[in-house]
Amino acid sequence: MQHLTIVDHPLVQHKLTLMRRKDTPTSEFRRLLREISQLLAYEVTRNLPMTTRTIDTPIEPMDAPVLDGKKLALVSILRAGNGMLDGVLELIPSARVGFVGLYRDEETLEPVEYYFKVPEGIEDRVTIAVDPMLATGNSSVAAIDMLKKAGAKNIRFLCLLAAPEGVARMKEAHPDVAIVTASLDRQLNEKGYIMPGLGDAGDRMFGTK
Ligand code: URA
Repeated sequence: MQHLTIVDHPLVQHKLTLMRRKDTPTSEFRRLLREISQLLAYEVTRNLPMTTRTIDTPIEPMDAPVLDGKKLALVSILRAGNGMLDGVLELIPSARVGFVGLYRDEETLEPVEYYFKVPEGIEDRVTIAVDPMLATGNSSVAAIDMLKKAGAKNIRFLCLLAAPEGVARMKEAHPDVAIVTASLDRQLNEKGYIMPGLGDAGDRMFGTK
């Protein structure tokens, strides 16, 4: 897979515009995120390994294509990742699920781990980490570091919006991790928010502000 894939499908772009609008209510924002996540999941899983299995149709036997290998691992980067997780799980219901919790130390500004739980056998699973906003890339890079430490080898990163700064940081730290997003926005502002962006994804999906 190429390092950065921008999904320019009209449905994705239209839904993203609705999400960006500041007057879009929380319930609508959450529903749109779930829908877009399914469309993005379609792209991030495009080249999964396949095999064939012999089945019987009502007409005759055939060697039919099925996914190969262990079930996928989906890893939500808390808390905003949970808004994407639901949509992706609807598309891939048999996936195993993990969670990574990180907060930013206000003094060092470094991400600090507070929760980490991933599916067994992650080393043999295609792993999709989900987080709507790839902004500075600090927490995303830290989350991927943790996944690799746990044994994950084949990792993809699925986000809704990316900033050039975050993409560059990921490419430097994890050139093997393909990023799939709906948009590469212009830049970060001085507070680390994506411009034009959509604001704080967590607050908008959970109504905390
Ligand atoms: N996290 C968010 O929720 N929004 C941004 O714009 C950047 C990081």
